[in-house]
Amino acid sequence: MRSPVVLGIESSCDETGAGLVRDGELLGHAVASSMDEHARFGGVVPEIAARAHVHAAAPVVRAALADAGLSMGDIDAVAVTTGPGLSGALQVGVAAAKGFAYALGVPLYGVHHLAGHVAVDTLEHGPLPDPCMVLIVSGGHTSLLLVRDLARDPIVHLGDTLDDAAGECFDKVARVFGLPYPGGPAVDRAAREGDPRAVPFPRPLTGPRDDRYAFSFSGLKTAAARWAEQHRAAGRPLPVADGAASLQEAVADVLTRKAVAACVEHGVGTLVVVGGVAANSRVRELARSRCAAAGIELRVPPMRLCTDNGAMVAAVGDLLVRAGAEPAPLDVSIDPSAPLEYAALHPRARVRAA
Ligand code: KG4
Ligand code: ZN
Repeated sequence: MRSPVVLGIESSCDETGAGLVRDGELLGHAVASSMDEHARFGGVVPEIAARAHVHAAAPVVRAALADAGLSMGDIDAVAVTTGPGLSGALQVGVAAAKGFAYALGVPLYGVHHLAGHVAVDTLEHGPLPDPCMVLIVSGGHTSLLLVRDLARDPIVHLGDTLDDAAGECFDKVARVFGLPYPGGPAVDRAAREGDPRAVPFPRPLTGPRDDRYAFSFSGLKTAAARWAEQHRAAGRPLPVADGAASLQEAVADVLTRKAVAACVEHGVGTLVVVGGVAANSRVRELARSRCAAAGIELRVPPMRLCTDNGAMVAAVGDLLVRAGAEPAPLDVSIDPSAPLEYAALHPRARVRAA
């Protein structure tokens, strides 16, 4: 008998994603984004995102099936992001997933969005070693995690951000610098022409008495905003490229320094860097050189799978199906602020199917 094909649906923010995974292999996926509709507001507008998901859900699933050369009848299970995320946006994806699961008569799994960011790496680089260190850096989260069996074991948080996430810092500072939304990619582009040593931005929580694995980015954001204000108040043009390069250097330095230290101190040989900010060129480069120097294997998903997509949700669903996890009841609900404890968000998944 062939392995089950899992459809994954993602709708926690402004991307509607559908992906199809079988046995750790990505068969096809498609993403629609409402990013352009939010650009003039400088951030995601929840109502606009939710409405865009309603329009995109069915076409995106059809596009993913076409990409995989499959049809509806080939789907054996459905996985969906049930949290965390924008509640209206999550509701649309969960309603769509329930509709597909019920209509096709296949099991449904509720998945934690951040576990999806972790699992997506398996589609490119194969199963995750047990244990591995994971640095999650997205628009809303920054965490250093010790991961064992993603489908079965609880996820251990070594450290989290005390305030802003790394992506949030990029997005907010970009706005102050007059760069377009979304800020992260704009800072990355602007930084190419700049000097990363031009502005001595702080490296938060890297002192000898600081929590070794916790992060903080709001002070760095304020320092960058103050630097921009000082230039404007003095009537000088803002050297945006230098500011962007220096900000990016500070973020990449803190993230990779702590992640590599965590690997060394816990005797873990593999670091996995995931989430939207893992698309940042300096974060990737510095992680590569520091891991190489410390003899640590580095895994970073390809750029197209770093930002939100459906393949990441299907990847978790595929792991849960293969681990024999119990599916979610059809009345499973969303959890917009779900903490990352297990990859599956419905507690029943922790009971192994007979
Ligand atoms: O993981 P993601 O797509 O969505 C969330 O789950 O939050 O991450 C989005 C975040 C945004 O803050 C965006 O600015 C940031 O990832 N990002 C980047 C880059 N590409 C996306 N940040 C820095 N450099 C990039 N190249
Ligand atoms: Zn995400």
